[in-house]
Amino acid sequence: MSKQWLQPAFLNGTFMPLQEARVSVLDRGFLFGDGVYELIPVYERRLFRLGAHLDRLARSLKEVQIANPYQDEHWRRILRDLISRASDSDLSVYLQITRGVAPRDHGFPQHVEPTVFIMASPLVAADPQQLVNGVAAVTFEDVRWRRCDIKSVSLLGNVLLRQRALDNGAAEAILIRDGFATEGAASNLFIVRQGRIKTPPQGTDLLAGITRETILELAGLHGIPCLEEAIPHADLFTAEEIWLTSSSKEVLPVTRLNGDRVGNGLPGPLWKRVHQLLQALKHTPEI
Ligand code: PDD
Repeated sequence: MSKQWLQPAFLNGTFMPLQEARVSVLDRGFLFGDGVYELIPVYERRLFRLGAHLDRLARSLKEVQIANPYQDEHWRRILRDLISRASDSDLSVYLQITRGVAPRDHGFPQHVEPTVFIMASPLVAADPQQLVNGVAAVTFEDVRWRRCDIKSVSLLGNVLLRQRALDNGAAEAILIRDGFATEGAASNLFIVRQGRIKTPPQGTDLLAGITRETILELAGLHGIPCLEEAIPHADLFTAEEIWLTSSSKEVLPVTRLNGDRVGNGLPGPLWKRVHQLLQALKHTPEI
């Protein structure tokens, strides 16, 4: 039995080891990908930016018309309890809510309780080599649906795009929609061009990433100009720096794009600054 199966989980009101968690084959998450999720990093047993994750969860639920099963205080208690059961102190908490179990029919079922599943796994930090050398990315046309602002578990588009990037020897796909770069298959996008940091503005083409928001906040606090502005596809190829951000990978420098160097081919000075600021913030208790 691998260690993974002993990790703590929570399913519909009960804590249990992951190996004991079972859901019905009629769960709409399984049949339709009808659900939403969050991935929350935990550093030294503290949930990072939990308030922002709970706000985004509430928004995703509202957009797909699933009633939020718990008040925020209740979520906080469940998550703290789950973390206290884990053996590691740096964790990745995955939380998923689906519309529930019902006979298969596209229309919403009536009087069905949502399925609530959470698991806490050891956090897999970015490979230190990736921080020294950066990663490769490739650009692809964004073939996903038009509500990428909802953190939906229907991730087939993202999965296919990420795999296509991996098959091309890259770590991530940078997605292009209507001539503009939007985000990665599982990350948000920042570029530095002519000394200015830019990230595409929030909208239905991309997920409002918590790491993205944190970096915008840090930049603001430290007087580093950072614009929320659409990024034309072509600007990627004249960028001095490109970064990808997510709760699992934090902020990763992209040093090769479609096989060519980004800037001088090494992680840039602004990435270094922002990465350091984020490391410091991770270990600062939130009020
Ligand atoms: N994904 N955009 C997409 C499409 C994502 O899937 C993610 C994160 C992000 C970054 O959001 P945040 O900073 O809140 O993690 C942007 C998570 C990590 C995942 O699916 O595992």
